[in-house]
Amino acid sequence: MCGIMGYVGGDRASGIILNGLTKQEYRGYDSAGIALCCKEGIKSAKIVGRVSGLVKLVENMPQECLEARSGIGHTRWATHGGVTVTNAHPHESADKMVTLVHNGIIENSKEIKADLKAKGIDFTTETDTEAACQLLAYLYDGDALAAMTGLVRSLTGAFALVIMFRDRPDEIWCARKGSPLVTANSGGASYCASDPTALLEFTHDLFFLDEEEMAELKPEGCRFFGFDGARKEKESIFLNWDSIMADKGHYEHFMRKEIEEQPDVLRLTIDTHTVLTSVSMERTLDLPDGLMRRVGHVQFVACGTSHYATLVAQNIMESLDDEVDVRAEVASEYRYRNVRGGDDTLAVFVSQSGETADTLAAARLARSKGTHCIAITNVRGSTIDREVKHTLLSMAGPEIGVAATKTFTGQISLLALLVMQLLKDRGSLSASDEARIIGGMRMLPAHVHSILEREGEIRSLAEKYSASKGFFFIGRRECVPLTMEAALKLKEIAYLPSEAYAAGEMKHGPIAMLDENLTVFAFVPDNDLREKTLSNVEECRARNAPIILLATEGDSKAKDHANDVLYIPRTERELFPFAGVAALQLFAYHVARTLKRDIDMPRNLAKSVTVE
Ligand code: F6R
Repeated sequence: MCGIMGYVGGDRASGIILNGLTKQEYRGYDSAGIALCCKEGIKSAKIVGRVSGLVKLVENMPQECLEARSGIGHTRWATHGGVTVTNAHPHESADKMVTLVHNGIIENSKEIKADLKAKGIDFTTETDTEAACQLLAYLYDGDALAAMTGLVRSLTGAFALVIMFRDRPDEIWCARKGSPLVTANSGGASYCASDPTALLEFTHDLFFLDEEEMAELKPEGCRFFGFDGARKEKESIFLNWDSIMADKGHYEHFMRKEIEEQPDVLRLTIDTHTVLTSVSMERTLDLPDGLMRRVGHVQFVACGTSHYATLVAQNIMESLDDEVDVRAEVASEYRYRNVRGGDDTLAVFVSQSGETADTLAAARLARSKGTHCIAITNVRGSTIDREVKHTLLSMAGPEIGVAATKTFTGQISLLALLVMQLLKDRGSLSASDEARIIGGMRMLPAHVHSILEREGEIRSLAEKYSASKGFFFIGRRECVPLTMEAALKLKEIAYLPSEAYAAGEMKHGPIAMLDENLTVFAFVPDNDLREKTLSNVEECRARNAPIILLATEGDSKAKDHANDVLYIPRTERELFPFAGVAALQLFAYHVARTLKRDIDMPRNLAKSVTVE
């Protein structure tokens, strides 16, 4: 989604803002712009394309703009109006008093525009944002707080707004409803950004704006207000991330770096929440006593890759306790369905970013029904972290590649431990299962490491199959979520048609599509379902589809059923996805690399989906 960076202080604003936008490029965008508070008023530069192009434009701005001490910048991911320079942000009011950038969607922009047009104000863009800009200028009579209060009360929809007034060169104003915004003050300067990673080089003490909150940024500090204009005291949150963690280092792509960080993520998660062969999360979770004895229904709610992580959790939970009614739900559906809620239900909301609009709405719905809620997120201070009382933080560190990799691993390891903790509290987890699974989890960092060491083999396989017209990923039970995640990775970064199917479903329709141009990638761990899955593989082979198998090391007979076999270490049954996912991420990565795709910033995608 769009990225925002704002600065007011004693240094050159242009460099700081462009650098902040570069750090947020991974969020996904199609145009970029900057506005600087120059001596002769506010001057803008905008471009369709990358921030690197904007840097060149800014270099050609007048010297007084390069010396500016305040400014705002934006990367736009088009929603209302085409991808053009005119529609790119920042937008300026007709009277040039207000310049602003916006993330989100202003739902009543048509009505506002009609109203202002009737008052004689001309509009120059197709964007919803311009409605907010012109309205603010119309409301402004020298009192910024009063105008801001009037503006936010008139807008419906979701917005993070960052604003400069021509006659207030040492101030930036912010407002947040539905779209994330974080501010900070350090060393005589104030900053704001969509994403905390853009601010970490200045400070780790961050002020995350809450829903319906505004901020006034000055070099000497930040002040916060409610939408009613009343002052609010706000505590900063210390974000324990290193700016180096958000750096690509010597890697060609963030995604490749992040795949390699997975053994560390596993180790950290397991070490933090276990003691020897026991799960020990009760203090971090701090749930009401006896809750899990009362709860008969568990819902896992998320979107995209996070949803597939919850399918892994659902599988583990039902394999350990068949009496709990456990469901993994897509948040965008959950929020509009008449789902069960209340005191006998526990819902776990999973969001890497903690800002996904559908997941947040689903969590709000559950809370309104009196459902017990837990959130899992990777971002301390994110909206879901602040809104849901019981939060578990995944320990993946900042993830910059748009395609989720290490955060998926962080989520599934945390979810597996959470499931065991909940079942332990319920009295239905046997000590032997607990020790078996935790023992198995402790082996995972080494397993994933050994998969990473086979990258050459995976790359050759990816190159060989990159000309395939499409892929079917098939598997059974614990492998089904992995088929979905593998197919999604290939869609996202290689743009190849890829389907995920429970292996037994192939003959109920999809097999009709198979011929020598569609590759079937089947997951056949050496377990009770191996033979059944291999029968499905044979059905695909009989239709001339090239076959790749993901099989357990030592299963030498697997190659009798396939053109190629990728072996992964033997794990506990429930943990096959944990080991296998690294191989599939690398496969997708190398297919995309062979096809010369923009791996870290795939077309049309955004890292954080803050609109519905
Ligand atoms: C896929 C991917 C997306 C996200 C989804 C949810 O690689 O990254 O499918 O998983 O948009 O995002 P979060 O977890 O931030 O709620």
